Amino acid sequence: MIARLRADINAVKERDPACTSTFSALTNYPGLWAVWWHRLTHRLHRSGHVWLARRISQRVRRATGVEIHPGATIGDRFFIDHGMGVVIGETTVIGDDVTIYQGVTLGGTGKEHGKRHPTLEDFVVVGVGATVLGNIRIGRGTRVGAGAVVVSEVPPNCTVVGVPGRVVVREGKRVESIDLHHEDLPDPVVEMYRALQRRMDRIEVRLARDEDMNAEAAPAPRAAAEQREDEDGDQGL
Ligand SMILES: CC(C)(COP(=O)(O)OP(=O)(O)OC[C@H]1O[C@@H](n2cnc3c(N)ncnc32)[C@H](O)[C@@H]1OP(=O)(O)O)[C@@H](O)C(=O)NCCC(=O)NCCS
Repeated sequence: MIARLRADINAVKERDPACTSTFSALTNYPGLWAVWWHRLTHRLHRSGHVWLARRISQRVRRATGVEIHPGATIGDRFFIDHGMGVVIGETTVIGDDVTIYQGVTLGGTGKEHGKRHPTLEDFVVVGVGATVLGNIRIGRGTRVGAGAVVVSEVPPNCTVVGVPGRVVVREGKRVESIDLHHEDLPDPVVEMYRALQRRMDRIEVRLARDEDMNAEAAPAPRAAAEQREDEDGDQGL
């Protein structure tokens, strides 16, 4: 128990450079208080004291700005930085060493029953204001970018950003996306004219070169006239 609390405090100190001491972690981190209160409400919830567990979690929400449903299953060293505006749904499962920032929602889509909230594997980081919806799995070590809305499974060790969330980095390598800029789509007619123009340019260059070569090979006009006169003289004309 004490070791677990100490690990929670160390997680705060390791992951937030602004936290300089154990005293600061204990007094200035509502995310830490919310996680500790959740351990109690989760026990109450599992032992059948569902109403009491929810009542306490609602009071904790008022004090910390973090709403964790008592039914959520949360691993060790879970760190909620800043805290305000975090919502974690009933059937959410969170692994070990997960970090989330303020404004994160781990929620349901409203269409599912039973397990309807996300599963975050170990070492996942969810950026500020991001939303992860539905019974989907976010793979180990994946990072969800600030403001992303993720509605489908994400493999391990990825970076997912945007709305809807798309994987931009996988196993440390950039993922090339399909270019869907409609304004930049190629126009086949224009492309054909351009190809014809290029061909004509090439032909003109070749013609000009041939003409130059012919002009060099042919005698100069004056020399040609003199040559013709000489030939006429030789023939006695
Ligand atoms: C996503 C994040 C983790 C960076 O991950 P990364 O693997 O290092 O990814 P990169 O920085 O290489 O970015 C990859 C691409 O995603 C884009 N990107 C990064 N974060 C993004 C975001 N939140 N939203 C949209 N696009 C984002 C980058 O611009 C880049 O695009 P490009 O390939 O067109 O250049 C980081 O940007 C982030 O959002 N962290 C959240 C931190 C947070 O919430 N802090 C709160 C402190 S109070």
